[in-house]
Amino acid sequence: MFEEIQDIALVFKPWISHLVTLLTVFLILRKYGGSHLQPWFLSKVYTPMLAIHHNSIRDLQRKHFEMIKNHKSADPELRKKGILRILEIGPGPGYNFAFYPPKSQLSVVEVNPFFEKQFFKKQADHPHINMDRFIVGFAEDMKGVESDSFDVVVSSCVLCSVRNAEKSLKEVHRVLAPGGKYFYWEHIRDFEYGWVGFIQDVFTYTFHDLVFGCCLNRTSDQVIAANKCGFSKIEQQRIKTPLKKGFHSLYILVAPVVIGIATK
Ligand SMILES: C[S@@+](CC[C@H](N)C(=O)[O-])C[C@H]1O[C@@H](n2cnc3c(N)ncnc32)[C@H](O)[C@@H]1O
Repeated sequence: MFEEIQDIALVFKPWISHLVTLLTVFLILRKYGGSHLQPWFLSKVYTPMLAIHHNSIRDLQRKHFEMIKNHKSADPELRKKGILRILEIGPGPGYNFAFYPPKSQLSVVEVNPFFEKQFFKKQADHPHINMDRFIVGFAEDMKGVESDSFDVVVSSCVLCSVRNAEKSLKEVHRVLAPGGKYFYWEHIRDFEYGWVGFIQDVFTYTFHDLVFGCCLNRTSDQVIAANKCGFSKIEQQRIKTPLKKGFHSLYILVAPVVIGIATK
């Protein structure tokens, strides 16, 4: 444990003054820079940060999301053609394309319009996906999306960022067709007693939510398990993703994750 704390401290030490300066500049710009500054900033910083993270969890994620291909559409015509209607919430730059089966018909609901360009650039590398709609909107209120209209809903590292996880889950449940499945991979507050949960709390309340719009200490595992929206079945497990040494040890704060499938 102390070795890990030392690792993190060593990574942070030379950066502390830069981080404080950046945070101050960011807070000033956020106050006076209008409503576009934070989304623009996030679209720039999240892409490389997420790329590093996804590289290290790719195999585990693939194992989980690969199960999507076993699901069949609730629509008899689409089922015959092997087409699956998938809705991804909060796709960001689009790191999940590779997990979707051929003939997927994909729509997304993403709150940050600055991700759209990167998303479509990535889509070009995955011609097996038919892109339906890129909706700029909130997962908590997907008013443009018809009820019972998707076979699968997907989220990865999104419930930490939405403003209301319960409302988002209600919407996920609403848009799923009967028997439809919600596949999720969400980082959560550490579920083991220790210092990681404490640091997640401190970071969230001081700067992480403010700057990155992400609550490191969300207990999405519990919110989903409470099942206020009425899924017929929830299968989930909590795991810790593997970490490398050096800079990568910072990702210890997103290592505790809940992965699961909730069926409508
Ligand atoms: C940490 S990123 C994860 C991106 C992507 N899912 C991945 O795994 O690489 C969180 C994403 O959720 C989006 N997001 C945040 N709040 C949202 C909301 N209320 N509704 C929809 N998307 C949201 C952010 O814009 C961002 O793209």
